[in-house]
Amino acid sequence: MRFHILTLFPNMFTSVLAEGIIARAINEGIINICLYDIREHTRDRHRTVDDYPFGGGPGMLMKPEPVFRAVESLWERSRVPLNSPVILMTPQGRPFKHSVAKELSLQGDLILICGRYEGFDERIREDLATDEISIGDYVLSGGEIAAMVIVDAVSRMIPGVVGAPESIKNDSFFSGLLQFPQYTRPASYRGKDVPEILLSGNHFEIEKWRREQAINRTNKRRPELHNNADSCR
Ligand code: 6GU
Repeated sequence: MRFHILTLFPNMFTSVLAEGIIARAINEGIINICLYDIREHTRDRHRTVDDYPFGGGPGMLMKPEPVFRAVESLWERSRVPLNSPVILMTPQGRPFKHSVAKELSLQGDLILICGRYEGFDERIREDLATDEISIGDYVLSGGEIAAMVIVDAVSRMIPGVVGAPESIKNDSFFSGLLQFPQYTRPASYRGKDVPEILLSGNHFEIEKWRREQAINRTNKRRPELHNNADSCR
């Protein structure tokens, strides 16, 4: 799977992509992350990527031309299929969750456009993007951190990226439930013992206990997950 990330700050990604599971997946060729500097697609002397909003108001907007050209050059030069999703990272997008990560993981190429300033010229949204995604109800200074979140969560859904495939099945949200409590050694620490059932070796009872714990935790912390069919699977 290839992620094509359009940004004004490609360097923001380098250290994040150089560590851990994502770095390994890149080295093994399971995923590919291509970074493109939107500013390279300006044509004026000042390499302008932003401008004032018509009608007035605070802040600046991302100009359409460099963003359109950046995507078009992917289609032309990087052989990204014309029907690959073009995803705008914005707080107004559809909420990113496990089900969306799974859906995106089935794609061969994804184009992620990171904005800065107060937002995008609406024509980018209407005539270039095929999707808009938000990672939560707060505003970030740019789409870059959100794009990193998407790369990480989507990559985990691709076979071979997470070492033990069973381990993602236990992750929160995989079953529509939050993860159950887990313990490692020592069995007793600062007066607290690991629940006896986990030391019993009875795998049937352990599974049952874990499921109960996951259900209780979900009821307490995120009751809405139970009523949200979208969070299942
Ligand atoms: Cl995708 N972008 C920005 N700038 N802010 C956000 C976001 C995205 N998702 C939540 N807040």
